[in-house]
Amino acid sequence: MSLNVEALFKNIWQQYLSVTPSADKIHQLLSSGDDLINDHVAFRTFNIAKVNLESLAEHLIELGYKECGQYHFELKKLDAKHFEHSNPELPKVFISELMVEKLSTEAQIIINRIVADIDSNLISSNEFLYSGRTWELSSQEYKTLLKESEYAAWLATWGYQANHFTVSVNHLAQYTALEQVNQRLKDSGFSLNTSGGEIKGNVEVMLEQSSTMADSIEVEFTDTQLKVPSCFYEFAKRHPKPCGNLYTGFVAASADKIFESTNQQ
Ligand code: NI
Repeated sequence: MSLNVEALFKNIWQQYLSVTPSADKIHQLLSSGDDLINDHVAFRTFNIAKVNLESLAEHLIELGYKECGQYHFELKKLDAKHFEHSNPELPKVFISELMVEKLSTEAQIIINRIVADIDSNLISSNEFLYSGRTWELSSQEYKTLLKESEYAAWLATWGYQANHFTVSVNHLAQYTALEQVNQRLKDSGFSLNTSGGEIKGNVEVMLEQSSTMADSIEVEFTDTQLKVPSCFYEFAKRHPKPCGNLYTGFVAASADKIFESTNQQ
């Protein structure tokens, strides 16, 4: 069973790298040859039954993951849950879903058309988690969605794939503080998400997070090509709970700012 999980994450990682060239460079920069441990991997979806959070989570639950936390983001119109595996070396998975009914009719029509275009057989296969975009999209549709929800525009453009991977700073041999990791990244020319400060969270909430801004990648729309934000890389340092074990949940106020890593720069 664990071989299957590892193979799945390998495929998700490769697909993520194919649209996130900076992640490959950062991975080499921080790992110095050793394998990095991922704190979590994040996915985005629409709350339409065919592709909703639960339907994505099914693939993970089959592989031994369990639901461990729920989150709500009122302004961004998102709900989210996180999942953990009994093997602590496997990444936690954070899945969010957009409350489509809260968008305009115009945006809902585009999203419903996209979801209708997805092959149901693909959704029921593990490959769905790294299938990318399997529908057509015009630059006009992209812009219509972007006006209302950066999240909707991102998902319509990139489809089903990791939105980000997250390095576990607790497992890095050469760094102890998140500040050190951030400094190394800035010294190497990477731009960090500064929304809510470079570091979101603190020791009190038992989780500190930072992230790069998403790479800008040329995308083929039906009518033209545009450079748009793809994916980003996140860094997480976890702190112990009063019982001594590391906190394994997420902090909604911090995640809210991390979502903005795919905003246009
Ligand atoms: Ni994250």
